[in-house]
Amino acid sequence: MMQERLVALRSRAKDDLAKAKTLNEIEYVRVHYLGRKGAIKEIMKAIPSLPPEEKSMMGKMANQLKLEISDEVEGAKKRFSPSSDSSTDKTPRLKNNAQDAKGSFDLSLPGKRQPYGHIHPITQTINEIKSIFSKLGFAVEYGPELEQEYYNFDALNVPPDHPSREDFDTFYLDNKLLLRSQTSTVQIRTMKKRRPPIRMIAPGKVYRPDTVDARHASMFHQIEGLLVDEGVSFQDLKYALTSFSKIYFGQDIKMRFRPSFFPFTEPSAEVDISCSICNAKGCRVCSHSGWVEVLGAGMVDPNVFEAVGYDAEKYTGFAFGMGVERLTMLRYGIDDIRLFFENDLRFLSQF
Ligand code: PHE
Repeated sequence: MMQERLVALRSRAKDDLAKAKTLNEIEYVRVHYLGRKGAIKEIMKAIPSLPPEEKSMMGKMANQLKLEISDEVEGAKKRFSPSSDSSTDKTPRLKNNAQDAKGSFDLSLPGKRQPYGHIHPITQTINEIKSIFSKLGFAVEYGPELEQEYYNFDALNVPPDHPSREDFDTFYLDNKLLLRSQTSTVQIRTMKKRRPPIRMIAPGKVYRPDTVDARHASMFHQIEGLLVDEGVSFQDLKYALTSFSKIYFGQDIKMRFRPSFFPFTEPSAEVDISCSICNAKGCRVCSHSGWVEVLGAGMVDPNVFEAVGYDAEKYTGFAFGMGVERLTMLRYGIDDIRLFFENDLRFLSQF
């Protein structure tokens, strides 16, 4: 009997929906019962051949069942929607704009792409140098940019009346506080904090009242280095710096040591790298000399050891301070230091 078939169909449809575990399975059930070739369609097709008294009643019942099953299907789908509490919220969560012009959310639109930032070339250089020196056994130390005169000058063997103070007569906040003019301050801080052997580098910003041009800025970055132990010689300094520059610039790099003076090292040297911007032919970055000074270095002056309370008879050491901008310029062939600080993305995005 057709009526029984309808009743059986209803209970099977309900069972199948209750068992469905995914939206796909529900869809499968829907197609099976309500689809163009589904079970209900089959029954509908048989109705015209029924005796006239049954025709209209069966027609009604089949339609009724169709509605009932589609309600059940909708109900089952809601189990999988984000707001499964369908009794209080009957509106679909997400509409597309075509359906609802006021809808604020069109899932089909592509997302807005956020441009990625990246690490500034100066920071990249600092990171690279940190990693090179860490392989040579150097730890990384930091000191404050706002510094006491004592660490910037006095402890570094620059007494108040020393002529070299004038070169670095720098940015003072009051009598004793200043923006450090060199990272050598961290030598003192580290030696006071630790006992030898010491092997450290100290990256950071320094400030000088220099006139800004292609090679000078009033703020730039240095990386200080310090090694203190028994029996350290100038040879060790040369070895460390040559190894570093070969790793950073490549085996063919030319380096020269010029005798120089720093109050806190004796003997002292300034170290130049052959100008890679003009291939040592002469340009504005190397002042047409073919060489660019990239660091100052020397053997720690015994007076500095005295200032931090180390036995200068027992310990020797070397120190160096290099200019990060200069190294980066030589490495990449950049001919103007100001480019690093202008925040021009056309420049920065090349690194
Ligand atoms: N502090 C020196 C400068 O700023 C560089 C330096 C560091 C020289 C350590 C010798 C030893 O120029």
